[in-house]
Amino acid sequence: MKFFIDTANLDQIREAQELGVLDGVTTNPSLMAKEGITGKDNILKHYVDICNIVEGDVSAEVVATDLAGMIKEGEELAELHEQIVVKIPMIKDGVKALKYFSDKGIRTNCTLVFSAGQALLAAKAGATYVSPFLGRLDDISTDGLNLISEIRLIYDNYAFETQILAASIRHTMHVIDCAKIGADVMTGPLSSIEGLLKHPLTDIGLAKFLEDYKKGNS
Ligand code: G3P
Repeated sequence: MKFFIDTANLDQIREAQELGVLDGVTTNPSLMAKEGITGKDNILKHYVDICNIVEGDVSAEVVATDLAGMIKEGEELAELHEQIVVKIPMIKDGVKALKYFSDKGIRTNCTLVFSAGQALLAAKAGATYVSPFLGRLDDISTDGLNLISEIRLIYDNYAFETQILAASIRHTMHVIDCAKIGADVMTGPLSSIEGLLKHPLTDIGLAKFLEDYKKGNS
């Protein structure tokens, strides 16, 4: 399972990278705005800065919603750095853009996916990644994990190569559940990754080991 961090915060990206388990980064316009990154030039530079920190894929989202606009923007993003994956929304022109980029060998991440039908369409159009938004479904009392299971089943039935990128992850249990289902990738906040290492028995056990060592070596 690949671990992506879902943020545009460079310090958090560095911290996750230093842990040694990071496979990539996802961003979106909201996350860029949260870091105060505005204006086209600053946004493009920020994507390059992220690529220079991590070794894996970095999703950069288009803001155009028409086919011509998405193609222009996506090509510009893809030109920025070899690690860039063009993030395209699941709308009608978005499906056409996925197909266009797939035919050109430009990697894509289809975002804002909330149903198995949308995921099927994204795979048919040749998306590299599909991003079902787990947490946002949970937020409205709908089982987000069930969607991940449905997509896994459909993709396995037909050996689609599109990778399931479980997005809108909110906590460590989402990560564990997605791993059990077989999501190819998870993207979440730093806390969802670091939370995986925590267990009180580990802390208690380590304290005891160190105490006993001290006793025997003082
Ligand atoms: O990767 C998608 C993600 O950014 C959405 O997460 O927490 O805003 O639902 P969230």
